[in-house]
Amino acid sequence: MCGIVGYVGDGQASDILVRSLKRLEYRGYDSAGVATCYQNRLFVEKDSGKIEEINNKLGLDTLPGHVGVAHTRWATHGAPTKVNAHPHTDCTNTIAVVHNGVLENFMQLKKELTDLNHTFVSKTDTEVIPHLVEEGLRAGESVEQAFLKALRKLEGSYALAMISTSEPDKLYAARKEAPLIIGVGKGFNMVASDITALLDMTQEMVFLHDRDMAVISKDSYRIIKIDTGEGVERPVKTVAISVETAEKQGHPHFMLKEIYEQPQTLRDSLRLQQQYLDLLAELLDKGRVIFLVGAGTSYNACLAGSYQLSQLARLPSFPVIASEFIPNYGSSLGADTVVLAVSQSGETADVLTALDFARMRACTILGLTNTVGSTLTRVARAYILQNSGPEIGVAATKTFTSQVLVLAQTALRLARLRGKIAQFEMDEFKTELLKIPRIVEEVLMKTSVKVKELAKALMSKPFIFILGRGISTSTAYEGRLKIMELSYIPCIAYPAGESKHGPISVIEESVPVVFVVPPDEYRKLNIGSIMEMKARGAYAVVLGDEADSELMELADFYIGLPKTHPLLTPITYAVPFQLIAYHLAVMKGYDPDKPRNLAKSVTVL
Ligand code: AGP
Repeated sequence: MCGIVGYVGDGQASDILVRSLKRLEYRGYDSAGVATCYQNRLFVEKDSGKIEEINNKLGLDTLPGHVGVAHTRWATHGAPTKVNAHPHTDCTNTIAVVHNGVLENFMQLKKELTDLNHTFVSKTDTEVIPHLVEEGLRAGESVEQAFLKALRKLEGSYALAMISTSEPDKLYAARKEAPLIIGVGKGFNMVASDITALLDMTQEMVFLHDRDMAVISKDSYRIIKIDTGEGVERPVKTVAISVETAEKQGHPHFMLKEIYEQPQTLRDSLRLQQQYLDLLAELLDKGRVIFLVGAGTSYNACLAGSYQLSQLARLPSFPVIASEFIPNYGSSLGADTVVLAVSQSGETADVLTALDFARMRACTILGLTNTVGSTLTRVARAYILQNSGPEIGVAATKTFTSQVLVLAQTALRLARLRGKIAQFEMDEFKTELLKIPRIVEEVLMKTSVKVKELAKALMSKPFIFILGRGISTSTAYEGRLKIMELSYIPCIAYPAGESKHGPISVIEESVPVVFVVPPDEYRKLNIGSIMEMKARGAYAVVLGDEADSELMELADFYIGLPKTHPLLTPITYAVPFQLIAYHLAVMKGYDPDKPRNLAKSVTVL
């Protein structure tokens, strides 16, 4: 996520802004900038790189003036370059805006504004905002009115702050589906996307609600409801926590924060740049052979994606572990091969090596990644960004569920392109896609106690067996990886149908077997597998539908989950596994953010 800060007060805005911005570095970013207003002039400095480097080069903290905004950017639209860094300004260079979030309708707004002779310099979605406000000022509106009207035209998510030379002692702010807080001080007021940026200056905070706008001066502020224009009061809360705790939004670890961020990150992963999704689908459709290539969790997402592609679009694909791609398929590649690489970092050496090999054989290279400007985005013919925001925990959680959701949207786009399934099936799937963020919210709420109980029951087990069928095989594999990499307990995961071909020999009294049993076409077969394992003494843990009383009866330990489309269950059923793995690590005294022997991005072979 991007980080934003605003200041208006008696102090030197730029100096305070840079210090506050540094408090947001933990969120991850690739560029930064500051804008201040002084003697009716706007001063803007920004660049790609780290805050300290940019400050040494451009003197961010020396800009004059008592009002200003600042930003750390985690690129979502447009590469991490100077021109794409925030703040963004209008044609007259008198309005500066910083923004966190994803605007869905920026292309249409950009076209309308270009037709009105506005000039754009960046590839970002954010840049439309100052030009919208400028258009209002041109029409004779006040800054406040122009800002309010601009906000009403925006679709998507935003937390934003703005300054204008027309109102040099005011700070404007607004939020929709992205956090924004006013820091109330003595002789100053601030705004930030994260309390971490404010705690050094004040503990008095006003948490803006969704679709709130604020007009802030150094000794007062007004909050207005964007939809109605009415004034509204929001309570001032005293936040007496350490900066370190604030960085994790009150959670003890980044991993837990990122698990609980998933409803929001999944919402953002539903806000994809449609033209890139279309391009990906077109290029996949042209391929004679399709490979989905990834490592670790990203491979598990590829496996889930292969089921979605074949069942929704009738498109066969090979999910391949990146390090095995060349040995297994290297000699079969050709110009009619398409390779879709899935990598949240976009830097995994096994993946990049496979892509280099494929590129030398004229394959079409596509990418799904979380990191703009990564090597994968440079080698891919086309790529899609999953919009999960930076993931600090080494274990992939929110980036996995986003990957599966993006692959599902790709499969739906291909289904439409290839016309292999009925319109009602596509409509039904689309409806289920849009419900996913809320269903994950429900899963987090409903399973939080039981996953802790289960972790306690599993923590002393010598190993854990995990089984799934169909697309739930990918869920079983992801559950295995999460539990192993965080608790160091060896896990065995198989397609349930395979267990009787050998693996079942390890089953004996009280061996824990976790079954992934969503209400899909394999439920009956899964019940047979559960009986088979229980007959040999297994302790049967079942993840299944919250209303499935037969399964509840059969299980020794049951976690019930809300319904979703079978092809989306790797998202909802992954969440209990993430929490189980997290609690196992904590109970065993390990650091879930930094598991032993592991790196966040494996850039070596
Ligand atoms: C998953 O929890 C691990 N952190 C690891 O398996 C990871 O998924 C793998 O290294 C791939 O990383 P990437 O998505 O950045 O390519």
